[in-house]
Amino acid sequence: MCGIIGYTGSENVREVLLDALELLEYRGYDSSGIAVKERGTEEIKVCKCAGRVGDLRAICELQRALTGCGIGHTRWATHGGVSDKNAHPHQIGKVTLVHNGIIENYRELIEEYHLDGLKSETDSEVAAALVDRFYEGDPETAIKKAVRKLKGTFALVVLFADQGDAIYCTRNVSPIVATLCDEGAMLASDLTALCRFTNRYFVVPEYHILKLTETELTLTDFDGNRVEPEYQTADWELNSAGKNGYPFYMEKEIMEQPRAIEDTMTNRINSGMPDFTADGVPDTLFTDCDRICIIACGTAMHAGLVAQALVKSILHMHIDVEMASEFMYSDPVIDERTLVIAVSQSGETIDTLEAVKYAKRRGAKCLAVINVKGSSIARESDYVLYTNAGPEIAVASTKAYTTQLAVFYLIVARMAHSRGVFSAEETQSFVRELQRVPQAMQKVLERRHEIHVVARKLLEAKDLFMIGRGLDHSTLLEGSLKMKEVSYIHSEAYASGELKHGPIALITQDTPVVASVTQEKLVSKELSNIKEVKSRGADVVIFIKETLAGNLEEEYSVFRLPAMRDEFMVMPASVALQLLAYYVSSDKGFDVDKPRNLAKVVTVE
Ligand code: F6R
Repeated sequence: MCGIIGYTGSENVREVLLDALELLEYRGYDSSGIAVKERGTEEIKVCKCAGRVGDLRAICELQRALTGCGIGHTRWATHGGVSDKNAHPHQIGKVTLVHNGIIENYRELIEEYHLDGLKSETDSEVAAALVDRFYEGDPETAIKKAVRKLKGTFALVVLFADQGDAIYCTRNVSPIVATLCDEGAMLASDLTALCRFTNRYFVVPEYHILKLTETELTLTDFDGNRVEPEYQTADWELNSAGKNGYPFYMEKEIMEQPRAIEDTMTNRINSGMPDFTADGVPDTLFTDCDRICIIACGTAMHAGLVAQALVKSILHMHIDVEMASEFMYSDPVIDERTLVIAVSQSGETIDTLEAVKYAKRRGAKCLAVINVKGSSIARESDYVLYTNAGPEIAVASTKAYTTQLAVFYLIVARMAHSRGVFSAEETQSFVRELQRVPQAMQKVLERRHEIHVVARKLLEAKDLFMIGRGLDHSTLLEGSLKMKEVSYIHSEAYASGELKHGPIALITQDTPVVASVTQEKLVSKELSNIKEVKSRGADVVIFIKETLAGNLEEEYSVFRLPAMRDEFMVMPASVALQLLAYYVSSDKGFDVDKPRNLAKVVTVE
């Protein structure tokens, strides 16, 4: 979950590292550190601390403009608490190292190699000690020998005091991308950190050694054979990872959604029909299956739940949505006739990645819905549909979620047509409605100050409920996750009808309720459930499709959502719920983009 950067080149190393760490901070932000080696010297200066990159910048006394090489790290603590000594880089002998992942056998290694005198409680320092133990002047041999002893996941980036301006790296599972550009050579745990310099990059293959110098990049496998890097071009704009004048990335990313949905649909609609030809996804994937299984975590899983409702109502097919972390331990029913759809913004979530590998071993075909190009899940899957949301930096996912939904609408439409459930006309009409989504979202965004007013009513709440039925319930599961992660208010999404089977006991005048009412066939039932909580003293905020029920404003705080076909109301409703959570968090003065205890990319199980 940590962020890693390595740079060797003509720019001021310290500034390149610190700037990159700021962009990578969303991967982990409890500690940070850099190590810098000036050209022509053997001294590697380490500066690290518990705290944010801002704190690191303030204490970084590696002074003056210097050229040479350096490595940096932002940490999300696993082994060892949050402290200066546990922050990376770790330095032992001639070796200075940063690590992302988990070394599972670190205790055994300490014993076996008598690695006494370690300064931290981390598994990472053990990797540094081991590389140093094996180092006899040949970096590659030392790294390979060490790696052969490691169990677990790792991206290791190493500086050697006596190896000039070279940086070495190897990895297993934990991602590393790298590039050579005009300003030098660099590597990072994800593309976000490289975007400022170039959009050409390659993914470092597992169990290879990458050596970077200012002018050269050498990739070799563990047998010493040279390997040509497979460069890709990201279609993210350079600098697209900036805040564009917004106070927080989360607001910027919420505002970007109409555009992101457009980008997701680009090249996937042909003569009004969904078309995955450019993605290389054949129709047989949708016709040669009896059931669907969606695997994902968190927000991505919530997108899967919306898809499940659509698949059931439109395709009448069997579909399961599995939490990736539970998947392998729950005896899933998976075979060659199961279409597995893995959903992930980062494409690196370890539980989802492992679940994909497991499903493939069971013979299933796997389609991935991913935002980050070339990520591990994308590479592991048989087919990929990229969501084209651009970099999502805020830890709380927003545009990734709605673009995942957009892909699911396209999948459902294509599948319905290829399986003979929708006629061409019905498919086109469904797609036309999808094309109206950006406009509907824009209308919500333009009235965001109204949601800000509503949000102020929730600032004092300790607990709140979100209630709705059918697709509204699916939407609220995500709305509620957004609320808890950025505002720290305990929020639960409940199917309205289920409330009186227990949880209504918790409703008091101090428990606000947020209701979503967007499904025509459910309106009267949903309004009755709202009355029930109102009668028990709850203040109720209602997000309702504008064409449904009048005269609610006297009793409730109401936000009217632009009307779409019921299946698509998830989209404007989700934007409204994201804004609600955002305003509560920012009004409470929280660091919206970096909620406590979280990290953007979850690469530990
Ligand atoms: C919440 C959030 C997380 C992620 C989850 C999966 O706002 O972002 O719940 O959705 O950690 O991450 P990805 O999509 O990268 O697999």
